[in-house]
Amino acid sequence: MKFSAAFTTSVLSACMLVSAVPMQTSNAGATKMMTKATRLDAQGAVYFITNEPGENMIIAATINADGTLNPDRAVATGGRGLHGSVATPGPDGLFSQGGIEASVKGKVLAAVNPGSNTISLFSIDPKTPTNLTPLGDPVSSEGEFPMSLTFNSAGDRLCVLNGGAVAAVNCYKVDKKLGLTAIPNTLRYLALKQTTPPAGPPNTASHIVFNHDESELIVSVKGAPPASVGYLATWAVAPGDGSLSATSTHIAPPPGGALPFSLTPVPGQNAFLATDPALGFAVFDLSGQNRSAAVAVAGQGATCWSSYSAHTGSYYLSDIGTATITEVRVDGNLQASVVKQYPQTAGSGTIDSDVVTVKGKDFLYVLAANATSVDVLALTSAGNAKRISTLDFSGPARAAGVPLDRNNVQGMTHFIKQ
Ligand SMILES: *[C@@H]1O[C@H](CO)[C@@H](O)[C@H](O)[C@H]1NC(C)=O
Ligand SMILES: *[C@@H]1O[C@H](CO)[C@@H](O)[C@H](O)[C@H]1NC(C)=O
Repeated sequence: MKFSAAFTTSVLSACMLVSAVPMQTSNAGATKMMTKATRLDAQGAVYFITNEPGENMIIAATINADGTLNPDRAVATGGRGLHGSVATPGPDGLFSQGGIEASVKGKVLAAVNPGSNTISLFSIDPKTPTNLTPLGDPVSSEGEFPMSLTFNSAGDRLCVLNGGAVAAVNCYKVDKKLGLTAIPNTLRYLALKQTTPPAGPPNTASHIVFNHDESELIVSVKGAPPASVGYLATWAVAPGDGSLSATSTHIAPPPGGALPFSLTPVPGQNAFLATDPALGFAVFDLSGQNRSAAVAVAGQGATCWSSYSAHTGSYYLSDIGTATITEVRVDGNLQASVVKQYPQTAGSGTIDSDVVTVKGKDFLYVLAANATSVDVLALTSAGNAKRISTLDFSGPARAAGVPLDRNNVQGMTHFIKQ
């Protein structure tokens, strides 16, 4: 068969027209409703992932005016989940914090697909924040086992941490039409010597964050005591194009620390509170003033996740081993102390958390993975956190035909109407 030049040209230009439009070809965005009627008075939403090996889905629950939650829907990411390799399988399959992250400013939500080595991006409908629309197809994470994400404060840049056999960070521009586009010179490898999926929790990557002025990108890596104590790796971020320095600087934990896990910024300082399941937590002072210190939490099992409330000025640390929330204060000189402890339901497997300000009041949302629940704690004042409700999402998920497993669910992030 022979085509005329004109015919070939018209076919080619038709193809080019098609490919110039960002197409969405995965099943990302396929939605299963978990409620009959989405609440129109929603103040915002919380989100976490199922991380199921067959299909990863985002569970979105509306935040009511009183801080309580309504399960609303499950939205396919268009990728697959994967659980890390462990002797006894349990919750926290990613060994990480930040597997799903939202930017309130950017009105976008991103989730990792560790079984597909991709990242999915969605725009959040600010009127109905459980309504998620895919922005392009999932993109390559440029490594294996993506496990943690961070947005810059403007919500127009995203970086990922891969923690598998190909362990690396990579950053993207967040484009409201094209989705995620990789930023040149941001693919930087970590010498983790891991497998895919990684074997852990020791010797695995944990969390990725920007520092206070976004001049550095930081990841936490757990050690394998007694052989090693883990570290923070930091790359300089170029102010204009967002590219990363060719090499990273490693910062050792303060004496006693060994397994740096979550990194929650200390407001107004170049410093982080890092949970450390070896003993409790540590404060990392990155300002060069040598005020870092590790702090033991008496009776702790595995303190791994943390979030901060501007209203109470406290940090809230989740311990999966004892199902306890520990409230911590860090003063202006970076001296830290335990304020109070709040035991949750025994065996509920408390993991990722997030703090949301709803109508001027702060609430702590804790994924109690082993109980397929989200605990809601009202943070009335420092030293005064009180559980006001628990949402068990297993029933609504089953009714909606959404497969999930308490060992796989992970992450906690939010959007709130401004
Ligand atoms: C930092 O402080 C520790 C004690 O808290 C001290 O042992 C160490 O020498 C100090 N390092 C520097 C560089 O000042
Ligand atoms: C999860 O629940 C099972 C029993 O239902 C229990 O054996 C296990 O220890 C729990 N895991 C955690 C981390 O609490």
